Amino acid sequence: MEYTLEQVSKHNTPNDCWMIIHGKVYDVTSFLDDHPGGSQYLTDNAGIDATDAFLDVGHSADAVKMLDKYEIGICIDCKPSYAAVASIPPVQDKPMTSSSYAPSTNTNDSKKDQDKVDPAIVGSVVVGAISVIGLLAFGAFKLLSKNNK
Ligand code: HEM
Repeated sequence: MEYTLEQVSKHNTPNDCWMIIHGKVYDVTSFLDDHPGGSQYLTDNAGIDATDAFLDVGHSADAVKMLDKYEIGICIDCKPSYAAVASIPPVQDKPMTSSSYAPSTNTNDSKKDQDKVDPAIVGSVVVGAISVIGLLAFGAFKLLSKNNK
């Protein structure tokens, strides 16, 4: 199901509590009483994009896994950086934080990757060099044995 921010904003009560995290819409009404952080945190974020609030707490990987259970759709006009397509990063052992999610703005990351030399290329160069040396040695050997005759 696809929802707009406006549609989600109407579900903002303890009896009907939706929120958006990473572009996905969650109906957490049934989770209010079970939320280990207390229901207040959820109702405070009812009907809104709670991505930042969720990340700021540093929820565990288990908490991230729990999200699936409450997903009811995606939000089609939420913050682009939190679009559902970006989805939630792979579950990691350490708690999630804004920085672990935030799309990389550090362009050096990709530059670093470009700087890395592909091991396959290194292998080919080494094999090529050994072949050339072998051929030269073979040629020299042939030449020497011919001269010695
Ligand atoms: C469907 C959404 C959510 C799920 C499934 C969820 C799940 C959990 C879980 C499992 C914990 C226990 C600690 C952990 O495993 O990280 C937790 C704690 C907590 N959560 Fe959530 N949570 C949700 C949304 C939120 C939101 C929107 C807030 C807003 C700030 C929030 C605030 C907290 C706080 C303050 C704690 C207590 C942290 C502590 O005591 O160290 N949670 N949550």
